Amino acid sequence: MTNQTEKPMEMTFELHVVLNCSASVGDKVAREELAGFVTSSNNTLLTRGAPPGCGAQIVSWDVLDEKINLTIVSDRFVRAHDAFLRLKKELTKLLGKYRIGIRGIEIAEYRITLDWEAGEGLQIRQLPFVKAINQAQGRLELLLEIDESAFDKRIPDRLIRLLEDKLDAARWKGKSEHWELLFESAKKHYLFDKDPTAEMLARGWLEHAAGRGQYVYGPQVTRIFRTFEKILLDELLTPLGYNEMIFPKFVAWDVWKRSGHAKGIYPEAYYVCTPKTRDPEYWEDVMDYFKVTNEVPVDMILGKIENVGGMCYAQCPPFWVFLQGKTLPDDILPVTVFDRSGPSYRYESGGLHGIERLDEFHRVEILWIGTKEQTIEHAKVLHEKYRHIFDDILDIEWREAWVTPWFMAQEGKAGLSELREVGTTDYEAMLPYSEKWLEFQNVSVNGDKYPRGFSVKLQSGQELWSGCSGVGLERWAAVFLAQKGLDAENWPQKFRSVVGELPEVFRFL
Ligand code: SER
Ligand code: ZN
Repeated sequence: MTNQTEKPMEMTFELHVVLNCSASVGDKVAREELAGFVTSSNNTLLTRGAPPGCGAQIVSWDVLDEKINLTIVSDRFVRAHDAFLRLKKELTKLLGKYRIGIRGIEIAEYRITLDWEAGEGLQIRQLPFVKAINQAQGRLELLLEIDESAFDKRIPDRLIRLLEDKLDAARWKGKSEHWELLFESAKKHYLFDKDPTAEMLARGWLEHAAGRGQYVYGPQVTRIFRTFEKILLDELLTPLGYNEMIFPKFVAWDVWKRSGHAKGIYPEAYYVCTPKTRDPEYWEDVMDYFKVTNEVPVDMILGKIENVGGMCYAQCPPFWVFLQGKTLPDDILPVTVFDRSGPSYRYESGGLHGIERLDEFHRVEILWIGTKEQTIEHAKVLHEKYRHIFDDILDIEWREAWVTPWFMAQEGKAGLSELREVGTTDYEAMLPYSEKWLEFQNVSVNGDKYPRGFSVKLQSGQELWSGCSGVGLERWAAVFLAQKGLDAENWPQKFRSVVGELPEVFRFL
């Protein structure tokens, strides 16, 4: 999935560095030799790999006791910081001949100017490692605040990449998210026109939990969820040879760095923290405060914990640690596994609605791994199985649409997926009570994104691909109950035979 800007962005780099040497340079090295070094560097070293007439140049230099001052100006071909690293290597050799070492580097000024015509409407107010930003007349000027270690970490290149991404994001913002109808089921006769969550609350099938966007599911709803799982197992997972695994539900940052979620998950994550120490004495003030006030002193706690990641969000990313750094023999492919070991969490803010949109929800995550052909082929088989389930067992009205891939949306890159091979199909169903379509599951071919992110290889050297499909139990219930209602006698016969009698356990006075 590439999100390149349309044409390469013009840019100028202007770098002033001071090299602090171990001895007075002027005393030992002839000025002519340094001048010769600069000229030859300008002619070869600093233009190597760039088109004719392009690259970097030392535009001024100066020696003062132990200090060498350099100004390097470049275009985008040999960026000034890369030019400097090349130069430093050669200069170290030259000075070495005179037993002079380079003690340290001071970056006196680093100015990057970008052609920002395309970003006219996009205000860049702050950036990491940038102390001043000047945006005017179609140009964006950045004054960096960095030391030499930032060059090794490629911070200047990453800043530019970040700006290109922001530009792409701004371009896409105007366009609506990609949505294209692929398949539509037959129209169905709806048996219900109310909001099923309200109706379930009224019947005592579920209750709001103490947390936001969270429910306690009573025996009846739980039975319905487990019935969905059983149907999925009997009709799809077992026939297709799936094996169950247990994926972690706490997700450490390293996973989200590799999955790409670290680029954009922040506004939606449920964060997980651990105590800075488990020494009870360290926590005594918190305990005492609670005992005296009966209030949990959240502010005090915040100072005593550290964030280590978040709760399960997309469900499949932590699986990949199982394969991280490994090479698989081709003959085990395709591999098909699933996880249903716990909930997912998303901070939905104002978007909460019934069991359709929750902060805590439950999903069976289906994951397959294969060659490119196997992965694409398997997605087709899943589509057939799902159609059978929705048509012949749940008897619902639904449609399938080609949409912005879930992982691109979650990385904050809601771009269009031009390639039909990689991407997401959403399943949507009509909610008669609101006359709106609700996405209730997806099937995605994720390309080589995960094997690449987690360094998983195939013995033959062929590209390894993967796909995943999330079956939302609350969403299935929301759709099924919205169309069929809560009265079991109206449910399709095949579903009834699996669900059996709904348990009646509680009564309230
Ligand atoms: N991992 C996918 C998602 O988060 C499928 O569950 O949508
Ligand atoms: Zn997934």
